[in-house]
Amino acid sequence: SPYSSQRRHASKHRFFVVELSQALFDFVIRLLPAQEEMAVKEDVRKLLERLIRTIEPDSRLLSFGSTANGFSLRNSDMDLCCLIDSAERLSASDMVTMLGDLLERETKFHVKPLPHARIPIVKLSLDPSPGLPHGIACDIGFENRLALENTRLLMCYAMIDPTRVRTLVLFLKVWSKRRNINSPYQGTLSSYGYVLLVIYFLIHVKNPPVLPNLQQMPPLRPISQEDTHIGGHNTWFFDDIELLRQRWQSSNTDSVADLLIDFFRYYSRDFTYNTGVASIRGGLLKKDSKGWQNELAAGRYNDSRERNRFCIEDPFEIDFNVARCVTKEGLYQIRGEFMRASRILAMRPRASVALAQLCEE
Ligand code: GTP
Ligand code: MG
Repeated sequence: SPYSSQRRHASKHRFFVVELSQALFDFVIRLLPAQEEMAVKEDVRKLLERLIRTIEPDSRLLSFGSTANGFSLRNSDMDLCCLIDSAERLSASDMVTMLGDLLERETKFHVKPLPHARIPIVKLSLDPSPGLPHGIACDIGFENRLALENTRLLMCYAMIDPTRVRTLVLFLKVWSKRRNINSPYQGTLSSYGYVLLVIYFLIHVKNPPVLPNLQQMPPLRPISQEDTHIGGHNTWFFDDIELLRQRWQSSNTDSVADLLIDFFRYYSRDFTYNTGVASIRGGLLKKDSKGWQNELAAGRYNDSRERNRFCIEDPFEIDFNVARCVTKEGLYQIRGEFMRASRILAMRPRASVALAQLCEE
């Protein structure tokens, strides 16, 4: 009867989803950095901090990006930010030049200072060695306080629902790297962009939501303008996660696999790429309302249109499109990959086959 065939269908789907969720956990766990790797990275950070203090005694070297937000994979690079607490400090580009010279003299790192980049940084790397089979790659920037704050925001989201959020994010990072759609320099999207897509989906697309909107929750006590703004950007968000856990619980019970299937479906079919802006702060916004697409000016300012093919608002720098590097071809490729992933999962193969196909290089 149609009724029993529907039931068979439903139970086959449930089996697929349970098996796939388990496979996703197992897959991701194997890609986490070993304790050893974390320890080596922390040693490197301390060593570099000691050296930098010979130039600027009042400086601190903090890690941000994946090493600090809970979304790090094995051998991921290390993002470091130097903060200088004294009033009279050198400019970022002078610091880059001086630190470059110092590290070249005093360490075994390969050093590449980029003092004239939009954000001046020193790039460092260590060749692989027996204790460090993949070497280390590291960027040191200066005074990038917004990056430290957005790292903390992502970390807080990861802490609210560690299992589902981290599994989804880590899987999508691996998937996007293996499918070759994780390189802003080649017209596709950064890891940071993919993380924002996941969080946007969990706050604003899923109903009931898996995550609350930390930037829109009422503060516990009055807050002053200067406590919450960095360079004119409002960086306030609710960060007392312990308290949040006592007061807020998602009523969404979807498994990781359910969420992954919906994620791919949403971004292959439903997200309005031509007009929409994904904003974790404000939900689905319009390109028009942000001045990110101007039909009339399209002919004259061709490259501004090119910069806004795909729009993801930065959580704090709201004038900044995190997906600005995505080109027409890049977006075509990314959407093609979302569709491919949806197609694979719709066939409901065995979980191990599904993951192998999804991440095929
Ligand atoms: P992997 O290096 O691939 O492991 O990922 P990741 O999590 O370190 O992300 P990514 O290297 O893309 O970015 C590292 C950090 O740099 C992010 O957490 C942000 O803090 C910052 N960042 C990266 N891209 C942008 C950007 O376009 N705008 C801003 N404001 N910050 C960015
Ligand atoms: Mg990184």
